[in-house]
Amino acid sequence: MNVIVCNTADEMDVIASKEFVDLISTKPNAILGLATGSTPIGLYKKLVQLHKDDKLDFSKVTTFNLDEYVGISQEHACSYHTFMHENLFKYVNLPKENINIPDGQAKNLEEECKKYDQKIEDAGGIDLQILGIGRNGHIGFNEPGTPFDAVTHIVTLDQGTREANSRFFNSIDEVPTKALSMGIKSIMHAQNIILMAKGADKAEAIYNTINGPVTPVVPASVLQLHPNATIILDKEAASRL
Ligand code: PGA
Repeated sequence: MNVIVCNTADEMDVIASKEFVDLISTKPNAILGLATGSTPIGLYKKLVQLHKDDKLDFSKVTTFNLDEYVGISQEHACSYHTFMHENLFKYVNLPKENINIPDGQAKNLEEECKKYDQKIEDAGGIDLQILGIGRNGHIGFNEPGTPFDAVTHIVTLDQGTREANSRFFNSIDEVPTKALSMGIKSIMHAQNIILMAKGADKAEAIYNTINGPVTPVVPASVLQLHPNATIILDKEAASRL
């Protein structure tokens, strides 16, 4: 694992955005794996700026998001469809038909999960996957205990994850209890992975991810086994290393 500790969040976003620019410049039809949450917002801002200023071209790019809640509509203010639209998609020239986010409202959720993995495979696999990390070490919505061979699946969210995400909702009662998430196996298939973590509340999860044993108890620790995983941290998130 390549670990980069930055002085500022902005420096993290610059380093991560450079990886996207390098990829899209050499492979205009790149397949990107995208994440939601507070952590990648700065990166998405940089990509929007690069699109505006330097004509970073998303016209042939395809994206696959990690996860989506079950039980709220795509139009809901807190859905990950809305998040991606508001933070990236509405500002860049990414064709609508190239955007993939699991459908948490699908009639048959099991079938939706199978179709999602198949679509990633049919697209040729993910070139660059961006990840955040939960305070419990989760990646995507793969909560502690998720087997490493899990593909896209229905998850029951941890109480801690629901509490952490309740900041986006009016109350914790409104936070869905279930979601669809790409599995750890699906994530590990990506050619390159960048995990970003900002803030002291991620320090313990980051310590366990990098220095702890590789164990489903800390889902992100599986990245120790990936040949091209880069962890980009601010000083606070790196404070226990
Ligand atoms: P955050 O979430 O970026 O909002 O901290 C990350 C995650 O839970 O995976």
